[in-house]
Amino acid sequence: MQTFTLNDKNRIPAIGFGTYQIPADGSTYKAVKEALQIGYRHIDTAAAYFNEQEVGKAVKDSGVNRDEIFVTSKLWLQDYAYADAVKAIDKSLQKLNLDYIDLYLIHQPYGRVDEAFRAMEDAQRVGKIKSVGVSNMTVKIWNRFKDCFGVMPAVNQVEYHPMMQQRELCALMAKNKVLLEAWAPLYQGNSLLLDNPVIRELAAKYHRTAAQIVLRFENQMGVIVLPKSTHTRRMKENLEIFDFSLADEEMKAIQNLNQEKGIHNPDNPGVGEWLLANFDVHKDEK
Ligand SMILES: NC(=O)c1ccc[n+]([C@@H]2O[C@H](COP(=O)([O-])OP(=O)(O)OC[C@H]3O[C@@H](n4cnc5c(N)ncnc54)[C@H](OP(=O)(O)O)[C@@H]3O)[C@@H](O)[C@H]2O)c1
Repeated sequence: MQTFTLNDKNRIPAIGFGTYQIPADGSTYKAVKEALQIGYRHIDTAAAYFNEQEVGKAVKDSGVNRDEIFVTSKLWLQDYAYADAVKAIDKSLQKLNLDYIDLYLIHQPYGRVDEAFRAMEDAQRVGKIKSVGVSNMTVKIWNRFKDCFGVMPAVNQVEYHPMMQQRELCALMAKNKVLLEAWAPLYQGNSLLLDNPVIRELAAKYHRTAAQIVLRFENQMGVIVLPKSTHTRRMKENLEIFDFSLADEEMKAIQNLNQEKGIHNPDNPGVGEWLLANFDVHKDEK
């Protein structure tokens, strides 16, 4: 498995298995267990995906050594006050049934990010979290919060695919040695991407699928990819991107598809409020 080295010297597998929108009705357990069997060694979950428990059970039951699996989870907006964040980190550990989490992220960059990040840094100091990071930080949001970081975030997990290449953000993150992680690396299966003629042509040339061309492009751009699928064939296909490479002019052709347009703009007004109103990670306590 190819890895990248984070700015804190920890290593992260270049591809992870995404679990957003996989329900906690046994489906997450099944998918994650299968992903680990197929060869994934990196799982991406979050408190707000409501499936940490099934992820943890699949990791335990997989038969793969804990130190060979990289687990990411994320702190939800409701828990950014320092004391709440401390509790939420312990709750994630408990749900995942793990002694440590490899990477923990500020899921959404609104509100008391400074307190939340301090709690994460403290948890890192005592070994509950190996690496700390952020998510959904645009250039504008990064500049608003950058002074809160005692430890430089290891990653910024953002929407990233050929239609949304985040050029300005990539340059800023590279300057700070922060790796980009791609959420929606397949544009959530959007045909505007997977049926694009440039992608299709390369898929035909390399006898690959459109998804493999896209994921390979992102990998060659130095971005960590987190494709999600609940279909075995696609889970396998998405992992098989390390035995071919795109030439410079092919990379350029895909770079030219950039529209800097995607699914989600974290800079839009009211996003934090909307998310808070729609995802309640404490609903099971009520
Ligand atoms: N930090 C954040 O705020 C944030 C936000 C969104 C996502 N994420 C993370 O990033 C991960 C990936 O993002 P995502 O799940 O939104 O989108 P994605 O991985 O780009 O796309 C998933 C969609 O593409 C389909 N698909 C998967 N493999 C395919 C293939 N080889 N060919 C054609 N279609 C394929 C899947 O369908 P099937 O399942 O039916 O195969 C699913 O509908 C998430 O699961 C989550 O872990 C993070």
